[in-house]
Amino acid sequence: MRDLTPPRDTLDPIEIASRDEIAALQLERLKWSLNHAYDNVPFYRDKFDAAGVHPDDLKSLSDLAKFPFTVKSDLRDNYPFGMFAVPRKDIVRIHASSGTTGKPTVVGYTKGDIEMWGNMVARSMRASGTKPGDMVHIAYGYGLFTGGLGAHYGAEALGCTVVPVSGGMTARQVTLIEDFQPTTIMVTPSYMLNILEEYHRQGIDPRSSSLEVGIFGAEPWTNKMRAEVESAFDMHAVDIYGLSEVMGPGVANECVETKDGLHIWEDHFYPEVIDPQTGEPVADGEMGELVFTTLTKEGLPIIRYRTRDLTRLLPGTARSMRRMEKITGRSDDMIILRGVNVFPSQIEEQVLTVEGLAPYYQIELVKDGRMDAMKVHVESLPEAGDEESRAVQAAKLGHRIKEVVGVSAEIVVAAPGSVERSEGKARRVVDNRG
Ligand code: DLL
Repeated sequence: MRDLTPPRDTLDPIEIASRDEIAALQLERLKWSLNHAYDNVPFYRDKFDAAGVHPDDLKSLSDLAKFPFTVKSDLRDNYPFGMFAVPRKDIVRIHASSGTTGKPTVVGYTKGDIEMWGNMVARSMRASGTKPGDMVHIAYGYGLFTGGLGAHYGAEALGCTVVPVSGGMTARQVTLIEDFQPTTIMVTPSYMLNILEEYHRQGIDPRSSSLEVGIFGAEPWTNKMRAEVESAFDMHAVDIYGLSEVMGPGVANECVETKDGLHIWEDHFYPEVIDPQTGEPVADGEMGELVFTTLTKEGLPIIRYRTRDLTRLLPGTARSMRRMEKITGRSDDMIILRGVNVFPSQIEEQVLTVEGLAPYYQIELVKDGRMDAMKVHVESLPEAGDEESRAVQAAKLGHRIKEVVGVSAEIVVAAPGSVERSEGKARRVVDNRG
């Protein structure tokens, strides 16, 4: 892999400014954002009034903790446009996340928001090692999902040649990569594995592909998965994070030179980590639920949004801005099995340690009498799929999960190709408990 560290003079000065400068900018912007929300969104005015706080009460950044949280159901309750802080005609774009139940969560962007978003994705891509003039293959889904269009505008803002493929038609993904020779791909990590499999199916060595950087996000993925993809393609695999309620992709991104967690673009998004039970902020370095306040969003300012994503804040390294550790999982995805908390990412880590197993997995929750039980569906690699090898793989994986994660799981090693493949965000857990 080539060294793709971006030259320092190509960075936005604020990325490497002093902490004091960053904090001063944040305070000024936070005051604006709280006032903007309070003055223009009845939901925020009522909520602040009920909590007995006013934007003028914010004298320092830590005063933000006095303000009430916003949660996903608040967006649903104000469906579709009740959270907008500008007249609908000034909204130039709508996105929505589907959600598993009921109405989607709708978000809106002004012209200024779209420009800021493009700049933040461009900054993320530059941190990932992509340069102006590079060709970028975008296989995140286009449409109401923020992945495709978010990546697209960022790649244009950086000055790249954009190939807007969207998700699906995996054979064609490989053809286009081989024919057009892009150096960057933006896609969910689980769909990248699907593309990897298609390379093998077509008999093309993925290490010979033109790809040098993969910018993967929209779902949790482990450092073990990074190692797997990096060695399969001989490329850098970098993590990008974001969520529609806050903006979309490009809220935080890893730097290719360090790959040590995601730098949060703190000049636009103010992070906090809270104890999910008490709602109290925890110190940097401690695990908890990530909370974001937008500092510059015009169309839909969001104040103390509870993401449900679990991580911790760490000091800056390659940039002055703080990092968030790679996400362990969402509190919604946490499985509680006989009192033990389990995240799909912990199972992923173990699957990737067992020799002979392919990197595909799905967790099924079932009833075992009155108790909940977990089945882990995996596949052996085509060359290691005889009955004897499969039995060894199952025993090894079951043992590792018991030992490291602390739960008993039934392991089903199925034939190659039988675990559900993803074309976007993978479905890691199937609940068949009835
Ligand atoms: O997934 C935005 C996005 C698109 C991010 C493309 C990165 C790349 P939503 O559909 O609103 O937005 O889902 C947001 O996805 O709260 C996390 O739970 C999860 N998520 C996003 N990025 C990561 C990541 C987009 N890098 C939700 N690691 C978030 C782990 C992620 N989870």
